[in-house]
Amino acid sequence: MKVQVAIIGAGPAGLLLGQLLHNAGIETIILEQRSQEYVLGRIRAGLLEQGTCELLRRAGVGARLDREGLVHDGVELSILGRRFRIDLKQLAGKHVVIYGQTEVTKDLMDARAKSGAKIVYEAEEVTPSGFDSASPKVSYRKDGKEHTVSCDFIAGCDGFHGISRQSVPDGAIRTYERLYHFGWLGILSDTPPVSEELIYVHHERGFALCTMRSRTRSRLYLQVPLSEDIADWSDAHFWDELKRRLDPQTAAQLVTGPSIEKSIAPLRSFVAEPMRFGRLFLAGDAAHIVPPTGAKGLNLAASDVHYLSEALISWYAEKSGQALDAYSARALARVWKAERFSWSMTKLLHQFPDEGAFGRKMQEAELEYLATSKAAQTALAENYVGLPY
Ligand code: FAD
Ligand code: PHB
Repeated sequence: MKVQVAIIGAGPAGLLLGQLLHNAGIETIILEQRSQEYVLGRIRAGLLEQGTCELLRRAGVGARLDREGLVHDGVELSILGRRFRIDLKQLAGKHVVIYGQTEVTKDLMDARAKSGAKIVYEAEEVTPSGFDSASPKVSYRKDGKEHTVSCDFIAGCDGFHGISRQSVPDGAIRTYERLYHFGWLGILSDTPPVSEELIYVHHERGFALCTMRSRTRSRLYLQVPLSEDIADWSDAHFWDELKRRLDPQTAAQLVTGPSIEKSIAPLRSFVAEPMRFGRLFLAGDAAHIVPPTGAKGLNLAASDVHYLSEALISWYAEKSGQALDAYSARALARVWKAERFSWSMTKLLHQFPDEGAFGRKMQEAELEYLATSKAAQTALAENYVGLPY
């Protein structure tokens, strides 16, 4: 089989790239190792930047997002029992939208199915090769049969554990990484959100976050040590601990109920440079990971895909490789700023016992500054709503 662009991975990055390229008349195939149900069942991001929403609309998948997404003009911080609001709209001129990654994925999968463009789920042993030449290939196995796709370009959109980045020779890639000694224990529950907007909680018992998927579905997170066993966290234990980290008024308003999903996610900062190797391009989590405190992972996947789709479209339309040559540097410039923001939000809001008494004082001073300085709040708002593409 021959296509113009072979896309590895049907997460948000791969599906959105596929849609944008399809709309531009470029033939693609998407190869995904998991089943469609599995990909749709993964509970992950929930917060979209305004720029991500605009990109989804441009891709033709914005209708349900516009109907069902919850527009938030502000975000709340609860610092040692005191709640205050950062007015995103006023300080940064933009809003954010709550719309689950599951829903983004579903809209993109529906659009793909409608377009008739090729997508293969449960593709085994997907293997990119020859991307240092003008005729790359991707091989895979499906239902016991071997297949090979010849293409002009390969887009590695296969997440942090994917094969694309691993296929690059060690000497051609440089990685930067920071691991945190805690994770986020998250639950999903069909209970009304405790507040209209998100609440990021800094507390001496650890960070917490009250977010949502809809007006009737809450998503809640707690900072926990990485050694924690999820089996030790009954729903009652989770709600009790969350209440202890909230200010008394918010805790009193919290509606509890059974969890419908519960998981622990480790926190990591990671960047691979460059994001291009000959005719293989990385996008999204395949190239970088941020801790979720800044809500940037899915949004960065979207901005990468914006740059990459533009570059591929200009290659086919104008036979110009200029934008492809610029892709890695262009994407990384935005990635590093989001890495910095996600790292700084993580440092600001979590407990870091290893930093000692001085570290704690620095954190308190920074939180106090944020609570009282318009300049500090503006900087947070500008990054939180998303830097321009
Ligand atoms: P993925 O979603 O990981 O998709 C990659 C796809 O490739 C997967 O479907 C995978 O099965 C497939 N694949 C992997 N290996 C292979 C292979 N060898 N062959 C074929 N296919 C393969 N981000 C935000 O912006 N806002 C948030 O609020 C937010 N909250 C988060 C909360 C949590 C708890 C977590 C874990 C993440 C959160 N994120 C958030 C991050 C966000 O979910 C990711 O950044 C996003 O999923 C990245 O999309 P992607 O398409 O690059 O990668
Ligand atoms: C979420 O809704 O899951 C979410 C929102 C904001 C974050 C992280 C996760 O910073």
